[in-house]
Amino acid sequence: MTPMTAGRTTAGPGALGWTNPLRDPRDKRLPRIAGPCGLVIFGVTGDLSRKKLMPAIYDLANRGLLPPGFALVGFARRDWGAEDFGKVVYDAVRAHARTPFRQEVWDKLAEGFRFVQGSFDDDDAFDRLAQTVHDLDRVRGTGGNHAFYLSIPPAAFPVVCKQLARSGLSAQDGEQWRRVVIEKPFGHDLTSAIELNGIVNEVFPEDSVFRIDHYLGKETVQNVLALRFANQLFEPIWNSHYVDHVQITMAEDIGLGGRAGYYDGIGAARDVIQNHLLQLLAFTAMEEPVSFSSDELRAEKIKVLNATRLVGPIDETTARGQYTGGWQGGELVRGLKEEEGYDPNSRTETFAAITVEVDTRRWAGVPFYLRTGKRLGRRVTEIAVIFKRAPHLPFDATMTEELGQNALVVRVQPDEGVTMRFGSKVPGSQMEVRDVTMDFGYGTAFTEASPEAYERLILDVLLGEPSLFPVNSEVERSWQILDPVIEAWASADGGPDPYPAGSWGPETANHMVARTGHTWRRP
Ligand code: BG6
Repeated sequence: MTPMTAGRTTAGPGALGWTNPLRDPRDKRLPRIAGPCGLVIFGVTGDLSRKKLMPAIYDLANRGLLPPGFALVGFARRDWGAEDFGKVVYDAVRAHARTPFRQEVWDKLAEGFRFVQGSFDDDDAFDRLAQTVHDLDRVRGTGGNHAFYLSIPPAAFPVVCKQLARSGLSAQDGEQWRRVVIEKPFGHDLTSAIELNGIVNEVFPEDSVFRIDHYLGKETVQNVLALRFANQLFEPIWNSHYVDHVQITMAEDIGLGGRAGYYDGIGAARDVIQNHLLQLLAFTAMEEPVSFSSDELRAEKIKVLNATRLVGPIDETTARGQYTGGWQGGELVRGLKEEEGYDPNSRTETFAAITVEVDTRRWAGVPFYLRTGKRLGRRVTEIAVIFKRAPHLPFDATMTEELGQNALVVRVQPDEGVTMRFGSKVPGSQMEVRDVTMDFGYGTAFTEASPEAYERLILDVLLGEPSLFPVNSEVERSWQILDPVIEAWASADGGPDPYPAGSWGPETANHMVARTGHTWRRP
């Protein structure tokens, strides 16, 4: 079928580099530019910082969305000088930035780089950091506004938060702001999450805490809200009268080599279901917010999470697996237990699937299946809303053998877009009906490329726009939903079921959906 194309957009001044003086300043399409500020990154030598954070900062600068005196401070143990730090950022930008390299943008940005060497328990290092930040206010005009990005293991949060308080870095005077950005994992169960939130909230009030769930920074995830609440077409059928079930899949083809330190003992449920997948569920199932203000949006999300519950019995309504060696994409790959750094008896699951229901009038009785896994058939994240069959088909049964259930699929990544599947007449003299699909693709509908999730989220931190960051109650509720599964798995006799790399997970995942008469989509 012909792809649907949205109207071409001509957004804001960005593209042409000038601001139309006749445009109403309340026009929300104007680009949002951060005011005077700086960003301090802890864990600046880590993978996330090199692959995502530094490139995103450059991309924001390149798009003209950072203030002229923006400052980036790296804090790490390495014995680096300012030049070494600049080189690391440069290499990261050249390797991973989304937008083209422009020397003049880089030169201007690099003037605001500083590096402070030290460890987290070193008072002097934090005093030097405080002095550096203070100097930046004077030299770069950062105005006392600073965000602290903790791209470090959660075990180090308490000491860093204490140091930020002790050195006066967390204190906000008058109109100035201080914010803290934290990366998942937000604890490893409900108890540890409450403890962690308590530690962070002792130093930073909740409205200064920005918890990153990078899935919320993805355009396609935000588009779930546009699709549902900007249109008349879908919302009337977005309920248990029409929807049969929902499948939320986050499949990855990569393995876990090199991540043992983080992943072994954590597993797929904690790594991804507790955060990304439950947030996708919240966007899919929530009621329309009164507005898109952060309070209203979060209020609806927490309502839906509060109504979400596991369906039992857990050994039948969940599945877990661990990849073994196999062929993937023409390459022979190792199983988890043979990957470097993993315990050869590891019971860490690399595949997890759960069944939940949302106890509201809208969703009662509709299963939501959530699954994620590493080393699966291909990389794909999607939300598939599968509709009930038409109550009656006035066709000969042989004419509808290839007619499935209608489906609306939000393709989160890759090939971002939305697909609708429905039945259509097969050309010819018979009234045969077969499934067809209609596609909307971001790549063909819009001229602008989507920003990276981290670009959007870092900008929102600097702007103080909290809508896309989960609050502590969401995090805690998500653990509360998942904890019984993790506990049941931990106390079970056996470990995760093996599945070969390149497959779609263990057989038990198929049994899980088959008990309610369903099958997984093969995306
Ligand atoms: C992270 C998980 O949050 O998301 C990783 O810790 C996972 O295990 C990653 O690989 C996937 O992110 P994306 O954006 O590539 O889907």
